[in-house]
Amino acid sequence: MPLCLGLLACTAWLPAQELRTPSAPSQPRIHGPEVYGVRPGKPVIYRIPATGARPMTYRVQGLPASLRLDASTGIITGDAPPSPGRYAVTLRATNSKGSARRALTFVVGDKLALTPPMGWNSWYTHYNRVTDRTMRAAADAMIASGMADYGYSYVNVDDCWMRLAGEGARDAQGQLLTNEHFPDMQALAGYIHAKGLKAGLYTSPGPATCAKYEGAYGHEEQDARLFAEWGFDFLKYDWCGYSRIAKDRSLPELKKPYERMSAILQTLNRDIVHNFCQYGMGDVWKWGEAAGGECWRTTGDLGLEKDTRLPGFYSIGFKNAAAWEYARPGAWNDPDYILIGWYGDARGMRVPQKARLSAGEQYSYMSMWSLMAAPLIFSGDMEKLDPFTLNVLCNAEVLAVNQDVLGRQARIVRKTEEEFILAKPLADGSVAVGLFNIGENQRTLAVTAGELGLKRVRGVRDVWRQRELGRSLESLRVQLPPHGVEMFRVR
Ligand code: GLA
Repeated sequence: MPLCLGLLACTAWLPAQELRTPSAPSQPRIHGPEVYGVRPGKPVIYRIPATGARPMTYRVQGLPASLRLDASTGIITGDAPPSPGRYAVTLRATNSKGSARRALTFVVGDKLALTPPMGWNSWYTHYNRVTDRTMRAAADAMIASGMADYGYSYVNVDDCWMRLAGEGARDAQGQLLTNEHFPDMQALAGYIHAKGLKAGLYTSPGPATCAKYEGAYGHEEQDARLFAEWGFDFLKYDWCGYSRIAKDRSLPELKKPYERMSAILQTLNRDIVHNFCQYGMGDVWKWGEAAGGECWRTTGDLGLEKDTRLPGFYSIGFKNAAAWEYARPGAWNDPDYILIGWYGDARGMRVPQKARLSAGEQYSYMSMWSLMAAPLIFSGDMEKLDPFTLNVLCNAEVLAVNQDVLGRQARIVRKTEEEFILAKPLADGSVAVGLFNIGENQRTLAVTAGELGLKRVRGVRDVWRQRELGRSLESLRVQLPPHGVEMFRVR
């Protein structure tokens, strides 16, 4: 029996199902979405996500003149072309083992986030302990761990970067001040950008954030301008302290602060993705897009959700799944972050502990979020990424389901107390399907081509293990352990 000499040696003899994602080949493979939405003339930062042995060099054919490529890092920067339109380019990555190419289209228009945002958020690891250092370390780890090579790109600070609300939180001109842990926000955004990543931050339309830090109320335009000047690319706008301001919970009152901020963001000199955080009030999925959002939380905080018979991510996931008809490119239902690896209990804002979810539950979590076209924002500890966590987060074919250009959210094909099935139509006419056992016993699950809306099946692929399974519908009949999942791409 092999000795367990370290994390990697140990994982080598975990049961086969524990590490599902095969390791990336040393030949280059380019990942990421096929489209990048940007407004005319606005700054672009895009790091070509590619796996394979380093050093790697990059080329881009057909790059608009206003953009440039750093051939050694694969980072594309510059400004989007001034005229709306579709600008198709071919990306190439080359290393000593070979070369890969992939098409990407810059869609210059009025839509951002044409595929769900992917990245990391500080909340569930750092809470009010977040600092400039932890943010930089997260950006470093996004590159060093390889996450960025699969398309993770946003590095987002959540609450607690400003001062406590009230006196002393702004200067004499009303300009928002940071607390002592954030000496220079512009330098922080610059640090993140230099790696080809994007920077996000958080505030509230109310006078105070959820954690009682200074919010934007009465300073919305001034704050948004400051965020753009600093160079931020993503704003989570958290209702919280606005409860005191809203006259009631009527639709116009629920929409008001979000419409206002969206209108301001449109006038800035950079694109800022607007993430509504108001926990799904007023069925936000029905009006979030019209109110100018790119994504909106559909539920309360995942980290506060009580576990029942099942871990809380399932019930949050089911609420989010119900709004499936409303998701589309640039308009995503957000069921909150991916809490695997090491993260801190939100009750008490604790320091990170290892997730108590089983391996099957973690693969189920990632499968659900991917099928639901949810923003894939990890919120565990970036400084404690282990091979298993990365195996769950970084499966190119699972991520391709999430990032599929058609932008449809999976619908629930079937759901009982014991099992459920999600099916997501994809741009190439195939269907991604997830079979989930939520019972306490092993069970057999099966889905028919008819249930998937397909007349016949030309091929089935095991998405997690990245293996062809042939044409037989039998492969859509699986035995699953309690809280296990299988995910297929059916052509
Ligand atoms: C709310 C949000 C969380 C987090 C905290 C910060 O609870 O829903 O995601 O941003 O506020 O205080």
